[in-house]
Amino acid sequence: MPTVGGRVGGRAAEWAATEEQQLPTYEAAIERVGIGEGTRVLEVGCGSGVFLRAAADRGARVTGLDASAALLELARARAPGADLRLGDLQFLPFEGDAFDVVAGFNSFFFASDMVAALREAGRVAVPGGTVVIQVWGRHGTCDLDVIKPVVRPFFPGYDPNAPPPPDLAEPGALEGLAGAAGLAPRDTFDLAWAFAYEDDGALTRSLLAAGGVGDAAGEREPEVRAALLDVLTPFRTAEGGYRLENTWHFLVATA
Ligand SMILES: C[S@@+](CC[C@H](N)C(=O)[O-])C[C@H]1O[C@@H](n2cnc3c(N)ncnc32)[C@H](O)[C@@H]1O
Repeated sequence: MPTVGGRVGGRAAEWAATEEQQLPTYEAAIERVGIGEGTRVLEVGCGSGVFLRAAADRGARVTGLDASAALLELARARAPGADLRLGDLQFLPFEGDAFDVVAGFNSFFFASDMVAALREAGRVAVPGGTVVIQVWGRHGTCDLDVIKPVVRPFFPGYDPNAPPPPDLAEPGALEGLAGAAGLAPRDTFDLAWAFAYEDDGALTRSLLAAGGVGDAAGEREPEVRAALLDVLTPFRTAEGGYRLENTWHFLVATA
């Protein structure tokens, strides 16, 4: 069922405030798979609709699904023509063979069973259609990695003794999951860009909203905020803001 990513809840606007910074990711996917006039596109985990808007601006017919009603409200304003659904990306409320492209940006890994979620993506794509899977870049290539030990204890079901999550950007990792889901890997690439925050407030508002961490922290929120600022000190700019270089990993597969 909906996981951490669906818990943005009351802080949706704070989370979405920096979402447009992800545009390089969306533009890269649009170019790479040739989304254009009339392409039927589904984004699973569509959040506040930045990708949907970019695809619609190219003439695509866009549909989005997300676990957060609050984010869908923002998506409705950003991409007014989109068909938007509340739901879990592992259980898609669509007929088979309905989309030319199904895309998930930092979302497929929220599924309780990622292979099942990818199989669903393949089911709703036309035969020969495209599934775009984007995840974090390899460990050590994302400045944001340093926040994980700070925020993870506030994720639902957190187990301090669990092994660290697998590096999905390792060569072959996504290919294996896609193959197990019946998809045929056809293209892989990486993209690097930087998140920029103008000051401590902008940084912590965004990071505490992501995954519902601030709400889950409750009265410990000031402590979590201080810990975030501490681990991110190396990324402070001379102007008092922050610049976080991240690499993102993509697999394009055929349904
Ligand atoms: C990185 S965001 C995608 C942002 C989006 N592309 C945009 O333009 O704003 C990932 C999204 O996945 C959603 N999500 C997380 N778990 C989910 C689930 N199980 N089912 C559906 N959506 C989920 C979150 O609510 C979040 O909006």
